[in-house]
Amino acid sequence: MSITPLMPVYPRCDVRPVRGEGCYLIGERGERYLDFASGIAVNILGHGHPRLVKAIADQAATLMHTSNLYGMPLGEKFAQRLVDTTFADTVFFTNSGAEAVECAIKTARRYHYANGQAHRHRIITFDNAFHGRTLGTISATSQPKMRDGFEPLLPGFTVVPFNDLEAATAAVDGDTAGFLLEPVQGEGGVTPATQAFLSGLRKLCDEQGLLLILDEVQCGYARTGTFSAHEQYGLTPDIMAVAKGIGAGFPLGACLATEEAAKGMVFGTHGSTYGGNPLAMAVGMAVLDEVLGDGFLDHVKAMGARLRSALEQLIPNHDMFEDVRGMGLMLGVKLKDSFDARNFVAHLRDHHGLLTVSAGQNVVRILPPLVIGESHIAECIEKLSAGARDFAQVEAA
Ligand SMILES: Cc1ncc(COP(=O)(O)O)c(C=O)c1O
Repeated sequence: MSITPLMPVYPRCDVRPVRGEGCYLIGERGERYLDFASGIAVNILGHGHPRLVKAIADQAATLMHTSNLYGMPLGEKFAQRLVDTTFADTVFFTNSGAEAVECAIKTARRYHYANGQAHRHRIITFDNAFHGRTLGTISATSQPKMRDGFEPLLPGFTVVPFNDLEAATAAVDGDTAGFLLEPVQGEGGVTPATQAFLSGLRKLCDEQGLLLILDEVQCGYARTGTFSAHEQYGLTPDIMAVAKGIGAGFPLGACLATEEAAKGMVFGTHGSTYGGNPLAMAVGMAVLDEVLGDGFLDHVKAMGARLRSALEQLIPNHDMFEDVRGMGLMLGVKLKDSFDARNFVAHLRDHHGLLTVSAGQNVVRILPPLVIGESHIAECIEKLSAGARDFAQVEAA
């Protein structure tokens, strides 16, 4: 038998972390990496954060799992805090981002069903989007590499170009349930929605009784410097999926909705054995305490501005960089076409001990823990600069 015990669906690299310390990962042979990938935007508090570690240990010793058959005091408390913090009136807890998006899609379909308009089931989604790997969430994208071989997929999605309000408007018909999008596309290349695009979608939804569903799994939960990315656009969604940062490394996600949008989600319509278990809720509350603590969001904004300006200053000195994009600490450096972002990410990792992530459109994604300080930024810039110098030489050779 030649198959590996771990199903070989990931092209895993040689970094084999066994420990984490703050903004650093330590590999099997003791090698240290500056972690500006954060497990793809997950470890917002870095590694081994004392408050998080203590919350997990205390709750694990008290009660880890019961069942959604029973009352959930911690879940009620955490949901109330999310309701108080966001546009939402109600929350369903999941174990991952894709499950949160699935719940959002189901909530949208049920809304129109509850209104006696079950035919309004179709959701308009966007090119270069990423919403997860379940059958439902791959059906919501147009990317062959995710969809090939899994047909028949879930019907009821129409994919149009991102940031193209005209195309989105033209795609609406009598069967449309709403729009599903990332306010800042992550996997697709760190592309923020334009103000006109997102405001235009909100307006269309209001005018035509459609639902605005935001996937803030990657860009939400303080990553862009506000609790949710949509706050920076001065609007609110009807439904929102979050995950990643909400658990800061513990598997947790949530689907948040207004009372109106959630009107179809009544007894028996949805469920999850583990969703909202006491351990996850204790983690969620510890993370939220940090994120809503004094100065946390201001720190993200300040570090985001510092990192962005330092990255922009690299551009004139290095031929390979084209532009810097993103919001807060969700940043991307686009490389010129003659350089390959995946190869550069590997070079930074293998030769400079810097972890970043590649994204679509030839972009190097920079997603540090939100607790970085000036010294981490300086170290990242030094490594990026040195990496760019010798990578350009290797590529030219
Ligand atoms: C925007 C977005 N939505 C959904 C997901 C899926 O989340 P998960 O991998 O936790 O299922 C991701 C993961 O990268 C994401 O970036």
